Amino acid sequence: MVFLALVFSLLLLTVTSVKHSRIPISPISVKKDVINTISLLTILSGGLFPQVVLGNDINFMEKYPYSKPSDILQYIYDTAEEGNIDSVLTAMDKFSRVYPMYKLSPEKVNFLNNAIATTKSQKILELGTFFGYSALNIAKSMTKTSFLTTVEGNSLNFEVANVILDYALKFDAELRKRIKIVPMNSDKFLASITNTNAYDFVYLDHDKNCYLHDIEYLINNNLVGNVATVVADNIIFPGAPGYLEYMESKFGIDNTKIKYFPFERVGFETNFKEVKDGMSITRIQINA
Ligand SMILES: C[S@@+](CC[C@H](N)C(=O)[O-])C[C@H]1O[C@@H](n2cnc3c(N)ncnc32)[C@H](O)[C@@H]1O
Repeated sequence: MVFLALVFSLLLLTVTSVKHSRIPISPISVKKDVINTISLLTILSGGLFPQVVLGNDINFMEKYPYSKPSDILQYIYDTAEEGNIDSVLTAMDKFSRVYPMYKLSPEKVNFLNNAIATTKSQKILELGTFFGYSALNIAKSMTKTSFLTTVEGNSLNFEVANVILDYALKFDAELRKRIKIVPMNSDKFLASITNTNAYDFVYLDHDKNCYLHDIEYLINNNLVGNVATVVADNIIFPGAPGYLEYMESKFGIDNTKIKYFPFERVGFETNFKEVKDGMSITRIQINA
């Protein structure tokens, strides 16, 4: 069946290429043919390649091409209501269904939201803002006296996140003031703060190779409070070398729990099959 589907699809691709070769063609028409062929392959293979883009996404791609971070903004302006966090989050969810991107899955969002809400953390640090999807979720879950600092090393992502947060929190200037996006690499940011900035919640979602260095730096420099919570994404896939071992040896094996989730960007960084991932949560209690 799969073999037949492959043969049939290749045949179709050849026929459509020959047909188009007689007339001037635009890149998008080639893209359409390829996408249609892939879609057909998806259907004929009985879902063997379930994550490839489907034909009805073509119209979306034509209307909202995505080649740079700011391209997401038009979609948000067209489909989300200004000042409505939930509608902005929904727009980001829909956009990322067509263009897989860095963003938590709904299950991981619940886990993070729950950790923020139950700990009632006051000084929250996120490393890795991207476009602010998790920051907006944290904003929804934190208390009315909490502050969020979120650090983003890529200046284009930083600019888009700022625009999205301004749009989503248009009519809540007070909450917007309690969220600061810092355009810096995490190591430079950490070196710039003092322990009057001790955080009681840290969320790690940046370069996985920086997790160990950054959490060690935070702890060794008393930048994490005596009672604090640390959540880290992707500790199974792609994995954060040395991070779990450090947390378990420093704070006791029972104080770090792992919750398993499927890795969300299947087909983007992986090979079309479900990949196991997880988030960890560590409760820190240091007796002074
Ligand atoms: C997985 S994305 C963050 C997703 C975001 N937390 C969300 O769920 O909406 C990782 C982001 O971290 C940024 N990043 C990676 N390494 C960094 C570092 N060392 N310092 C600051 N930002 C970093 C990347 O530019 C990227 O935007």
